[in-house]
Parts: sequence; structure tokens; C-alpha cells
Amino acid sequence: MPRTPLFAGNWKMHKNVVETLEFLEAFLRKAKDVHGEIAFCPPFTSLWAAAERLKGSGVKIGAQNMHWEDKGAFTGEISPAMLKEIPCDYVIIGHSERRQYFNETDETVNRKVKAALKYAIKPIICVGESLEQREKGKTLSVVLSQVERALEGVDIRDGKELVFAYEPVWAIGTGKVALPSDAQEVIGAIRNKLSELYGARVSQNIRILYGGSVKPENVRDLMAEPDIDGALVGGASLDADTFYRIAAYD
Ligand code: G3H
Repeated sequence: MPRTPLFAGNWKMHKNVVETLEFLEAFLRKAKDVHGEIAFCPPFTSLWAAAERLKGSGVKIGAQNMHWEDKGAFTGEISPAMLKEIPCDYVIIGHSERRQYFNETDETVNRKVKAALKYAIKPIICVGESLEQREKGKTLSVVLSQVERALEGVDIRDGKELVFAYEPVWAIGTGKVALPSDAQEVIGAIRNKLSELYGARVSQNIRILYGGSVKPENVRDLMAEPDIDGALVGGASLDADTFYRIAAYD
């Protein structure tokens, strides 16, 4: 059964509310002939405004992070219940920038995945190796261990309730995109791992995105690979026309 592609824009720490709304106006004027589903992940402060503007458009909303607790004395954190109220369809979990700069670990990723699923928010679980790990030939062991640990004790219904994003750290924001065949090799291995853990039917339903310097010029070759189900786009998602050309590639 074919999986619906997903093109998600991770805006990181870019765009205030006014810029968010300007972007969405520009994108919605074009948004036709895109492949599959579109989601934007603006900063927390723009989520509500974006969700209101996108009502009825079919375009989805995601957050870039969340805490795993429902509520409590966690200054500066945002709970899954708060994201559900927006309502967010997706939440990015374990992005490499969070792992690198904010002490995100496989254990906190696992807690957040469980919390997102409890609230029926689809986690986009990010995994990927550093340049050093790749050069030492550790790509598959690193990535597959991240996948396994993210899912420890996680029940999956049919696989449609979560998404993975394979983002080699050395390809993020560097202009160095992975070769489509290399990305396919890792993403294919992730799917095999998911099949081992949850069975073939579930693994065939789980969307696995590629992320790292995706642009209108390279998206088509990536999407030609059998296991790549879309893209998590950083820099190139900040401009409405550029992101549209990625999602509507031909
Ligand atoms: O979440 C998105 C990734 O970090 C990719 O960012 O497209 O700017 O390389 P990039």
C-alpha cells in the first residue's frame, strides 16, 4: 500500500507571528499540485496564529519540541496537552540540534514519543549520525540504535501514527545532501528494523523522511528511492516559493 508523502518545513528559530502569516498567505496562494501532505513547524509563539490561518486548508501544523509531562513545575517547557489544544498534528522529537545543544537523549526522546502518542500527536522522530560516526563506518549501528531506543516500550497501532526522519547531522544546513542511494540504504535499514520490531505490515505504513539540505534541485532524485517518503526541510522551507517547488517537484 503506497504511503502518503509528507513534506514538513522545520522553521527552527525563524519567523515571528507577522512573518508566519505572510509566509502562509504566499504559500496558500500556490498550494496546489503538491505531492501528499504538507506540514509547517513554526516556533511555539506562532503555532496558534498559524493553526487559525490554516483551518480548512488541509495543511498541517507541527511543533518543534515538547516536554513529556502533562503539566508541572518545568519552567520554559510546553506540554503535549498544550500542543493538542492548538491543535498540532505533529511534533518533531529528538532533532539533532536538540540532542547536540539541549542535552536531548535517547531516553528523553523515548519519553516524548510515548507522550505524543498518548495525545494522538504524530511524532516526527529524528535520527542521524555525525560526520565522525559516518567516517568510522558506524552509521547503521548509530541510527538503528536511536530507532530502537526511541521506541522502547512503545505500542504501535498501525504505523500511521508516527513518522521517522533520517537526518545525517553532516548534511543539516551545510548544503551537502546525502546521495539518494546512501539515504535509501539507511532508510531501508530503518524500515527493516521497524519490520523486525513491529512486523512487515506496520513497517510498510510508517513514513520515513529524509532531511538535510533538501532543495528543489535534489528532491526528485531523493523521492525516486523506494523507501523515502518525503522530506523534513529546514533552510529551504523558509521561503514559500522554494518550499512549494520542493513539495510540488516534477
Ligand atoms: O529539520 C530539518 C533539518 O535540520 C534540515 O535542515 O534543510 O537546513 O539542512 P536543512
